[in-house]
Amino acid sequence: MSTPHNAANVGDIAERILLPGDPLRAKHIAETFLEGTKLYTDIRNVYGYTGKYKGIPVSVQATGMGIPSFSIYVHELINVYGVKKLIRVGSCGGMHKDVKLRDVVIAQGVTTDSSIVHQVFGGAVNYALIANFDLLEKAVINAKKLNTPVKVGNIICTDRFYNDYYDVNGIFGDGKRSLNEKLVQYGILAVEMETAALYLLAAQGGVQGLGLFTVSDHLLTHEEVPPHERETTFDDMVKIALETAIEN
Ligand code: HPA
Repeated sequence: MSTPHNAANVGDIAERILLPGDPLRAKHIAETFLEGTKLYTDIRNVYGYTGKYKGIPVSVQATGMGIPSFSIYVHELINVYGVKKLIRVGSCGGMHKDVKLRDVVIAQGVTTDSSIVHQVFGGAVNYALIANFDLLEKAVINAKKLNTPVKVGNIICTDRFYNDYYDVNGIFGDGKRSLNEKLVQYGILAVEMETAALYLLAAQGGVQGLGLFTVSDHLLTHEEVPPHERETTFDDMVKIALETAIEN
């Protein structure tokens, strides 16, 4: 059986999966790191592949950008295809001064302006979106083994890339701070647009989820990693994700 969004049959997708947003990143991961790779879907050019990493079956599925697109793929991966370990490998915008361009950030927790948590719990509670601790611990250990420094903490997952959080000053009545400054004061490291859905759907399905990101741009300094340099930092993060995905 396949779905309207994914051409794979049940059994084509491994229990361990990496989730980049960009289909060409999925292709790059499959071609660079996996062996015996098979393309199982190209519906909408959103590619998904299964291959082996160090002899263990691993898939890589592109998700598109933002919570709605991401949620369609990930809901089906968990509920139709039986995927058990899901690791997002994405990019993020740095917000905190301790987070530098090209750093690898791991989301221990996710704060969000999206209504998805409210849609599930109806406002009864503010459910905490957290990483699976087992995957988080393994990722930190693997990063150390690979000599890749990581920053672990809380991130914000937003619904709007072009939000006005950084230029609406004084919305908290003190005439000074933008929402972004307040988020940083409360320890938010970086911004991206999908991981709230990963942690919510993983919790709902009783499976393991973790979000890793490279800092592609910085909201404080307005620096950006040039496109030709993005692959190197991206690959360091992918190695951490793959080593973590194949452990038991
Ligand atoms: N904002 C939201 N998502 C992102 C960003 C950003 O600046 N950079 C990479 N993903």
